[in-house]
Amino acid sequence: MPDPNPATLDFLMTRRSRPAKTLALPVPDRAQLMPILTAAARTPDHGKLEPWRFIVIGRAALARLADLAETRGKALGKSPEDIAKGRIQFDQGNLAVAVIEVQKPSEKIPPIEQTYSAGAVCLGLLNAALASGWGANWLSGWPSHDATFRAQGLGLNDHERIAGFIHIGTESSAPPERPRPDLTAITRWLDT
Ligand SMILES: Cc1cc2nc3c(=O)[nH]c(=O)nc-3n(C[C@H](O)[C@H](O)[C@H](O)COP(=O)(O)O)c2cc1C
Repeated sequence: MPDPNPATLDFLMTRRSRPAKTLALPVPDRAQLMPILTAAARTPDHGKLEPWRFIVIGRAALARLADLAETRGKALGKSPEDIAKGRIQFDQGNLAVAVIEVQKPSEKIPPIEQTYSAGAVCLGLLNAALASGWGANWLSGWPSHDATFRAQGLGLNDHERIAGFIHIGTESSAPPERPRPDLTAITRWLDT
C-alpha cells in the first residue's frame, strides 16, 4: 500500500510563487540558504553528471547586473522599454540564486536531458524556498539569454547557460491564485 505524506502533498497542491517585485527584506542568510540549496541539488540527474551549479547573488552584485543589463541592452539596440525590463529584476531584487546549466560531455546523456535536469533544479529550489516560508519567484528575462551578459556578469563559459534566477525574500503580499491547467485537456489515458 502507498504510504502518503499529506503535508507534502498539501504543499504541492497549493504552492504558489510570490512575484519578485513584492519580495522584501529580510532575505535568507547563508545558514538559512544552505538547506534550500541542498534540497535543490537533490534533483533527478541522469548519469550523475551534475549538469548545474549555483551562483548566489547579493544586493551589490544585483546592482552591478542591473547596470550591465542596461549597457548590453543599448549595445544590442533594444528599446527603452526592453532595457528597463532587463534592469528591473536586478534593481528590485535583494537576493537571487542563479541556477547555471553546465553541459557535461557525455556519450550516453543527451544535452536536452541535462537541460531538463537544470530546470528541475530551479523548481526544487523554488519549492524549497517556499516550503521554508520565504517568498520566491523563478525569473529569466532577455539578459539571461545574452551570452555576453552571462560572461561579463557572472563569468559563465560557453557551455553554461542560466536556467533561471530564483529570487528569494520576505513575502509582502500574497498574490491571487493563478488559473491552473485543465487536466482533462492536457491528459490522455492510454490503456491499450
Ligand atoms: C523558465 C522560466 C522563466 C520565467 N521567467 C519569468 C520572467 O522573466 N518574468 C515573469 O514574470 N515570470 C517568469 N516566469 C513565470 C513565473 O516564474 C511563474 O511561473 C509564475 O509566476 C507562476 O508560478 P507558480 O505556479 O509558482 O504560482 C518564468 C517561468 C519559467 C519556468
